Amino acid sequence: MIEIDSDIIEYINRVSLMDDDILKDIKGQINGYSPIIRPGVDRFICFMLELKRPKRILEIGAFVGYSSILMASYAPWAEVTSIEVNEKNFVSARANVEKSGLKNIRLIYGDALDVLRFLNEKYDFVFIDASKGHYNEYLDLCLDLISKDGIIIADNVLFGGRIVKEGPVPHKHRTIVMRMRQFIDRIMNDRQLSSCIIPLGDGLAVIRYKGRATDERY
Ligand SMILES: C[S@@+](CC[C@H](N)C(=O)[O-])C[C@H]1O[C@@H](n2cnc3c(N)ncnc32)[C@H](O)[C@@H]1O
Repeated sequence: MIEIDSDIIEYINRVSLMDDDILKDIKGQINGYSPIIRPGVDRFICFMLELKRPKRILEIGAFVGYSSILMASYAPWAEVTSIEVNEKNFVSARANVEKSGLKNIRLIYGDALDVLRFLNEKYDFVFIDASKGHYNEYLDLCLDLISKDGIIIADNVLFGGRIVKEGPVPHKHRTIVMRMRQFIDRIMNDRQLSSCIIPLGDGLAVIRYKGRATDERY
């Protein structure tokens, strides 16, 4: 088995990078820690978009628009709807989308836990990249919006490796770790879903919605 050491990760990140001018510009706007998807994750998402060719993409957690712009430019045939709860991030995302000139992105300002209840279109591809403590709720709401055989990708499911470590969890991470473990347990065991976890970036869950448990085909 290959030990995934930092040299291997650095190499994959370097060869995977796919930033154009606007994406480079967005990364340059961020001082300090950046929650933007990591190199390698961007390429994997684009690869999945090519395979799936979704008509409608839903993103939970726009931040300043990097992944929305990446997906909308890579899948120009698709409409991207992205939800952001933080006003400052939403305003920056809106400015970046305008700068990109892309017309296939709809940004919604609000809490996804509310907004998702009011969306009435079906989505073929969902990217969950928001509060790690709420993945189960996002998934519940997304299952009402995803089309059969739709793909859901959830980022950060390994939470810096904390999900994997045994023993006591520091108090400040306890709730997220507990909820993320419940989320992982659920996606691995729900008969409506077919799921795997890829150790890319901070851990990606890749989920296919097979249909309601009453559907004949699985
Ligand atoms: C990891 S960042 C998203 C990064 C972005 N997907 C990218 O790669 O460019 C998470 C974002 O989700 C937003 N967020 C957190 N909880 C949310 C919620 N309940 N509804 C909508 N946005 C939320 C945060 O404000 C933050 O901007």
